[in-house]
Amino acid sequence: MITLGIETSCDETAAAVVVDGKKTLSNVVVSQVEFHREYGGVVPELASRKHIECISLVIAKAIKDARVKFGELDAICVTRGPGLIGALLVGIGAAKGIAMALDKPICAVNHLHGHLFAAALENEIFQYPFIGMVVSGGHTTLFDVQSPLDIEVVGKTRDDAAGEAYDKVAKLLGLGYPGGAIIENLASGITDDGLRFPRALLENGNLDFSFSGLKTAVKRHSEKVFGLNRNRTGPGGFRPIVPANPSAVDHNEIRRIASAFQAAVVDVLSTKIFMASKIRNISRVVVCGGVAANQALRDRVVSEGKILGVEVIFPSIGLCADNAAMIGARGYTLVRAGKLDSLDFGAMSRW
Ligand code: KG4
Ligand code: ZN
Repeated sequence: MITLGIETSCDETAAAVVVDGKKTLSNVVVSQVEFHREYGGVVPELASRKHIECISLVIAKAIKDARVKFGELDAICVTRGPGLIGALLVGIGAAKGIAMALDKPICAVNHLHGHLFAAALENEIFQYPFIGMVVSGGHTTLFDVQSPLDIEVVGKTRDDAAGEAYDKVAKLLGLGYPGGAIIENLASGITDDGLRFPRALLENGNLDFSFSGLKTAVKRHSEKVFGLNRNRTGPGGFRPIVPANPSAVDHNEIRRIASAFQAAVVDVLSTKIFMASKIRNISRVVVCGGVAANQALRDRVVSEGKILGVEVIFPSIGLCADNAAMIGARGYTLVRAGKLDSLDFGAMSRW
């Protein structure tokens, strides 16, 4: 079965052609990050407009790269939510147009389920059940996945998502956007010297997350060492806490903070995924979403999995962030099960 995946839930315009939910024939992603950087985060209205500019070209390129014809597609699979309504509507509109013009089935896909199925694209044998953890800029959610049609949320963040915490901490340290890779780079090679930020909700049996206290702790510490903000205006008018021209000493302190912050995030994420695996008695875990690109997280979960005898699966780094191949892969499982949609569905900001 050949599926066309379309993804526009946030700031990536993406389309991909996938065979049987496994083989990626094309995977086109146009990132808008450069346009949002000066505002220090995604501006929803700007995102919608950029999707409109790009969507037709991105879909045309996905079809061309895959060397298929529109008529050969078996189904059109599109992200329905969760995400930014205006952004989602662009992808949904394009998908409906193609489905209607070609008289092809359409399938609405949950973006978070899509992230889980990114791993299916690279594993010939993708087995169930598994504990799935989606860690991205908008979500930190744990799933018990018994089968493609039996997916249960078992834990989620009560406030900020893990990626959001990376982005907010990078912003308050004046480091730029998006924060994940920047903080990871700064943290690499720093040895633990005792600076420790809080880990929330780690009590046994609690599968929810909370990262806003961690962000506040980083803010307090930064204010203490650097002083309250120094009248330097950053992206979107935001005033970072660090000095405008950090000295070498300041820079070392920023790296130390980045490292201690990342250690706390990795500790919580790793602890929770294995807690879920134990509670649900499932010895296979899949970690996905933008934050799953983080090497410190990958190393920690892989080594802990070895100790605990739990199989650990991460999509390759390129498939962790938003893309449409994962939507085509997830859509395939739904279409195969007869879960199609009529042309009147709308976008869902929460799902
Ligand atoms: O999945 P994604 O591309 O988009 C959403 O659905 O949100 O995730 C984006 C998030 C951003 O918050 C970004 O800072 C974070 O993933 N991220 C990382 C890394 N690369 C991206 N976080 C930690 N380490 C990374 N290497
Ligand atoms: Zn995502």
